[in-house]
Amino acid sequence: MLKPYKLKKKDFLSSLDLSTKEVNYIIELAKNFKNNDLSFDYKNKVLGLIFDKSSTRTRVSFQVAMSRLGGTTIDLNPTTSQIGRGEPIKDTARVLSRYCDVIAIRTFNHSDLEEYARWSTKPVINALTDLEHPCQALADFLTIKEEFLDFKNVVLTFIGDGNNVAHSLILCGALLSVEVRIACPKGFLPNPYVIKKAREIYKNDNLLKIMHDPHTAVQGANVLYTDVWSSMGEEYQKEEKDKEFNGFTIDSDLVKKADKDAIILHCLPAYREKEITNAVIESDKSRIFEQAENRLHAQQALLACMF
Ligand code: CP
Ligand code: NVA
Repeated sequence: MLKPYKLKKKDFLSSLDLSTKEVNYIIELAKNFKNNDLSFDYKNKVLGLIFDKSSTRTRVSFQVAMSRLGGTTIDLNPTTSQIGRGEPIKDTARVLSRYCDVIAIRTFNHSDLEEYARWSTKPVINALTDLEHPCQALADFLTIKEEFLDFKNVVLTFIGDGNNVAHSLILCGALLSVEVRIACPKGFLPNPYVIKKAREIYKNDNLLKIMHDPHTAVQGANVLYTDVWSSMGEEYQKEEKDKEFNGFTIDSDLVKKADKDAIILHCLPAYREKEITNAVIESDKSRIFEQAENRLHAQQALLACMF
């Protein structure tokens, strides 16, 4: 049975905040939680949730994860707290540090999350920013490990926007030495800083490929992954982006070009018939709902390593 292990860094703002050993440990711990092989007692521990954007999976899985650990959560809805009135981040962070044991934040600017973490004496978790979604990547690689048992020779092809979800997959993929191919239209590349950091981690330069033809990118791939083309906050670009991403839909024809045992992932929520067809989401290759369930187990494991 695995023993609790405290993460080296106080905060989890980026996939880069974990070492390879720590990612592997969290995935193993998550599997143990999933099999009900573990019980931790975090009675009296309180997780605060600050969500500036909507959420179903992240919010509820954090609430259930904390409850399974024996602790509680407080929903610090920005519209009903003074956060929405514009109270400075540095004041909110210092005050909430005196009540809560850990805070998960979903917001727009990654720099606001970093500013919060600078002033918070308690651990801060990135529950999604415009730059990264590292909790999602933990659940994604847990799902991949369950399917393929280890990460050796796994090829993950992400088809879509070079967005927050793609960034965390790239960085977590680099930590785990998984081959990651990003297939995106030319104007929608992942952030160059993320690519640079991933290349510093990868021992082999060929393991990260940025491509523009989904048909080439899926050849021999074991995991096909997509996300919405327009993320939260980009709704005003939707019409234009839908045109730019024409040809980047994961449909049955594209799936046929991947490895015969390939699985399909999507972080959800999905726009069916845009980035992915209804038939592919509902196909026997889809692990999308297992992946959503794994958010709970991965975050329970993450929280267990933060106190
Ligand atoms: N995948 C994900 O983060 O979903 P929510 O926006 O519902 O939290
Ligand atoms: N890229 C999406 C992910 C949603 C979970 C967004 O940021 O809206």
